[in-house]
Amino acid sequence: MNQNSITGPHNESWAIEAHGLVKTFGENRAVDGVNLKVGTGTIYGVLGPNGAGKTTTIRMLATLLRPDAGSASIFGHDVVKEPQIVRQLIGVTGQYASVDESLSATENLVIFSRLLGLGRAEARHKAAELLEEFGLTEAAKRPLKHFSGGMRRRLDLAASLIAQPPLIFLDEPTTGLDPRTRNQMWDTIRRLVKSGSTVLLTTQYLEEADQLADRIAVIDHGRVVAEGTVDELKASVGNSSLQLRVQNPQDVEMARRMVEQVLKVQSNILAEAEKITAPMGNVHQVTDLLIALREAGIPLAEMSVQKPTLDEVFLTITGHGVQEDAALTPNESNKVEGQKHEYFN
Ligand SMILES: Nc1ncnc2c1ncn2[C@@H]1O[C@H](COP(=O)(O)OP(=O)(O)O)[C@@H](O)[C@H]1O
Ligand SMILES: [Mg+2]
Repeated sequence: MNQNSITGPHNESWAIEAHGLVKTFGENRAVDGVNLKVGTGTIYGVLGPNGAGKTTTIRMLATLLRPDAGSASIFGHDVVKEPQIVRQLIGVTGQYASVDESLSATENLVIFSRLLGLGRAEARHKAAELLEEFGLTEAAKRPLKHFSGGMRRRLDLAASLIAQPPLIFLDEPTTGLDPRTRNQMWDTIRRLVKSGSTVLLTTQYLEEADQLADRIAVIDHGRVVAEGTVDELKASVGNSSLQLRVQNPQDVEMARRMVEQVLKVQSNILAEAEKITAPMGNVHQVTDLLIALREAGIPLAEMSVQKPTLDEVFLTITGHGVQEDAALTPNESNKVEGQKHEYFN
């Protein structure tokens, strides 16, 4: 089969190519030389804590902010030299956030559909379909000013989907959403990609990247500190991860020393649960460890060997974990959201 029939012309096999993107705010290099390559038809996750530079990166890729250095192209079109073309190829959630607060959800969606060239009946149909999909049917007639934050976010994504652009930027699409709505959002994102779109999503949730993304860039302080498939990133931390809990708290230190001796690695203690974790190259070593612990008379409460989590990956790569509080509160610095945009050029 002709490869081009799938991927289109050569320069379109990459939905996004960015080289050395930089954005400085005063003294702060918010984005400090970011390189990205996002394959067409994939979900790409940009994972990083609050303030890492995710939103600023998206704003440059979406022609909302001019890079100070570096270059980026969307399906082969330069974001600085061809912004008009780029804007026709992308959707950014948040872009449509505040339309007309006094109009209903349906009316807002119909207006967007009409602006995008859909006929009257088609626009009505599309609006109803999207409201249904995002669980907003009951609220369809309510004016936007009575919408909760979660409802706004869903309407926002719905609006950006009217055109089904080839590339969709989702900036922390599920931050602050309840678990049920988050799962709905995940399903929608998967469906979008099945129907041909490419998605770049940012997230602070390791699990979200793990669930959705084909490839992930881990970003910290404006730099990509790791890139690869979820499995590749996990493999960089060791093939498997040992988790062990002793019955008697006074045995923790002794057990830890034995883990390090037998596995010949550094271990960690997760304080609250007094759980010892350690990377393991070879699962067979667990036998030696169990024998050593029994001979030392240390009874175990729990033991498991599993694939490393992305949390452990992040810890290993950056030397610090994802700040817990940052991961739990909505991201205040989501500049794409709810803001009137000034396009450059
Ligand atoms: N318009 C702006 N003016 C000044 N500083 C900004 C602006 N936008 C972002 N920053 C700063 O740039 C850094 C990266 O922010 P951001 O890209 O929003 O990170 P993230 O989206 O990963 O949370 C932060 O230190 C933030 O305070
Ligand atoms: Mg952000």
